[in-house]
Amino acid sequence: MTVTLADEQYHYVQARESAARTYADAADRVFEYGSLARIRDTAGREYLDCLSVAGTLALGHNHPEVSDKVRQFLDAGRIQQALDLTTPVKYEFLRTLYGVLPEGFAADAKVQFCGPTGADAAEAAVKLFKTATGRRTVLAFHGGYHGMTAGALALMGNVAPKTPVGTLMPDVHFLPYPYSYRCPFGVGGEEGVQIGLRYIERVLDDPESGVPKPAAVIVEAVQGEGGVIPAPVQWLRGLREITARHDVPLVIDEIQTGFGRTGTMFAFEAAGIEPDAVLLSKAVGGGFPLALVLYNAEYDTWRPGAHAGTFRGNQVAMVAGAATIDVISRDGLVDGARRRGELIGESLRELAAIRPEIGEVRGRGLMWGLEIIDPDAPADRLGSRPADGARARAIKRRCLEHGLLIESGGRYGAVLRLLPPLIITEAEIREMITKLEKAFIDCQG
Ligand SMILES: Cc1ncc(COP(=O)(O)O)c(C=O)c1O
Repeated sequence: MTVTLADEQYHYVQARESAARTYADAADRVFEYGSLARIRDTAGREYLDCLSVAGTLALGHNHPEVSDKVRQFLDAGRIQQALDLTTPVKYEFLRTLYGVLPEGFAADAKVQFCGPTGADAAEAAVKLFKTATGRRTVLAFHGGYHGMTAGALALMGNVAPKTPVGTLMPDVHFLPYPYSYRCPFGVGGEEGVQIGLRYIERVLDDPESGVPKPAAVIVEAVQGEGGVIPAPVQWLRGLREITARHDVPLVIDEIQTGFGRTGTMFAFEAAGIEPDAVLLSKAVGGGFPLALVLYNAEYDTWRPGAHAGTFRGNQVAMVAGAATIDVISRDGLVDGARRRGELIGESLRELAAIRPEIGEVRGRGLMWGLEIIDPDAPADRLGSRPADGARARAIKRRCLEHGLLIESGGRYGAVLRLLPPLIITEAEIREMITKLEKAFIDCQG
């Protein structure tokens, strides 16, 4: 058998890279070029990228306008890293970002630039609210994901990465998320939502709940890594109302959902609520590393240096981020995501009608999940069957063979996740569905 250059490159990297490496296990090839929603490997095979670096590439790969802005910036000889210094680039970036925040929130919002990953934004928010409130407890949710650094890990629902590490940030308590398909109260739907809210209320107002008054509640409006679970708007409104009544800051993690992905600029806007803080990363840097916390100025009581980090002044990311937000606004890509989402939802539900291994189709805008189940196993009292992570991985693998890049996640890795870029066309959506269908057929029986 001839060993190709791609084989050599893949195996060289594979042999050296950490055992914690994950995405590459199922993709034993070498990827090189990308243009909008498509990438190409070194063997010349093309893929429709419906993962978009876990939702990061809002405009896909190498969007020409973003690339032009970055090129012009580099050619102009401006400083690329600036710590906390003021620069024209930071000014332009903040003007652009504040221009797309909900007006009421923007009016009082302060910004903290963080070390350039989402996890660091979660770390900063915890510090900020602990400092401002003088409290120690943080409430997070089952299935929640806020990053992999020690503090962020402590906020994570998934126990697998936490277990080998042992003691993490103390005083984190977990609340049930409105995951109707596997309702923690065994009822689902509107009743599950109401019971969940009542439960949260009791945790906060029962003097014997065992949970001291928290510094913050941190939540995703649509859980991503937890398995693409959109929180019903009435639940989000209820959560906002309860936290406000108990004087507990509400932090919404929009790191994966931010900038139009779910059909509104930010996912919390679907519920018409105003959080106390918003975490942003991924799309905000236009494909370059950037992360920040936006929060109500009343909490801005921490001291200079309370959250530092070398790469917080990443100018290239600010240029690319501003260019990305401009294109999203100018081209109506938020409404576009909502409309395209309707087409995806319809098509996936049609697929689910003929594929018994799809337990549930969930999503909003351009963020969708298919929960893969064992259709032959008995259903629980809600009618849900056991998750089938092995089958989901097999389907994902076949997607790759058909030229479609997707991800799996959620409980037991049983949720196939679709996160196409906002610039995906209707024709590409149809192509995505056709490829997905083929992968299901390959794995049947
Ligand atoms: C909702 C959410 N929060 C935080 C993070 C962590 O971001 P990062 O991987 O950049 O640390 C992620 C990453 O997927 C995420 O989806």
